Amino acid sequence: MGISIVVLIGVIFGVNKIIKTVNYHKTYEYKLLKIGYKIDDVKKLDKLSDSTKDYILTLEQNDDIVNLTNEKYFMEKNLKSYIEYSKDSDKNLTDVVAIVNVNANNDWYTNTKKTDLSKGNLILTNKFYSLDNTYNSDNMVTVSKRYSYGENQMLTTDTYDAFLNMFNAAKKEDLTLIINSSFRSYEDQEEVYDYYKTTKGESEANKIAAKPGFSEHQTGMAVDIQTYGSRASTFEEFEEFKWLQDNAYKYGFILRYPKGKEYLTGYEYESWHYRYVGIEASTYIHENDITFDEYYAYFIEKG
Ligand code: DAL
Ligand code: ZN
Repeated sequence: MGISIVVLIGVIFGVNKIIKTVNYHKTYEYKLLKIGYKIDDVKKLDKLSDSTKDYILTLEQNDDIVNLTNEKYFMEKNLKSYIEYSKDSDKNLTDVVAIVNVNANNDWYTNTKKTDLSKGNLILTNKFYSLDNTYNSDNMVTVSKRYSYGENQMLTTDTYDAFLNMFNAAKKEDLTLIINSSFRSYEDQEEVYDYYKTTKGESEANKIAAKPGFSEHQTGMAVDIQTYGSRASTFEEFEEFKWLQDNAYKYGFILRYPKGKEYLTGYEYESWHYRYVGIEASTYIHENDITFDEYYAYFIEKG
């Protein structure tokens, strides 16, 4: 009797152990270890969704996958695109994440979408997000001639209020910010784009002007700023430009097409083009040296 109880207990333990082993073999931890990930990496990867882990298990062990998950702006939904893009690119992983997050792994103007108009001051337009040709903000005001070249410049009320604050702050330092271009309707932008296309050819035009429907100027939240005696090609030599570099973000504005970020924005550097995004976004973008496209992808789009 005593012996059979001992045997029974032994059998129960044995069966239990087999069940545990079989179950462990079904876990992601086991499967990831088995294809060569180290335990610390497995702990990180285990936090991803099951479908992402199933995808990772279809690939060979790759340290880049773990490194990608450690990137500041890593977005799980983009993992497959990061990996595919990395294969054919010599960019570092930080750049790969930025490029894929802003869709710039696609050719410009491909896979375009209508932008989400519910985002208020954070509405995005770029070479992948567009506005309807009839879109006009219903919240626009006419800019006083005191602050602008030409007649009938228009901005959204928030942009204009912020510009006036910025104008007054610059004025205290004897600097003058002049609005050279502001709201442009779809038709205005068509004229601008066609002018460059005719005079410089399509490829050059695409680097400096948005196709109609894709321009930030249509949002009423973009301002091209100049000062007395400056023009596009010389503005960055003026004190006003230097002041804007240090101060525009305090009023909710960002330099929208920075030098060195052409591969993310799709446009050549424009020292004169500022976009109102509100102080929270402008401060983050300034302090972290990212583009609005990256900020939007990571913080705004999913929200
Ligand atoms: N120059 C900017 C990119 C525009 O045309 O909107
Ligand atoms: Zn502009």
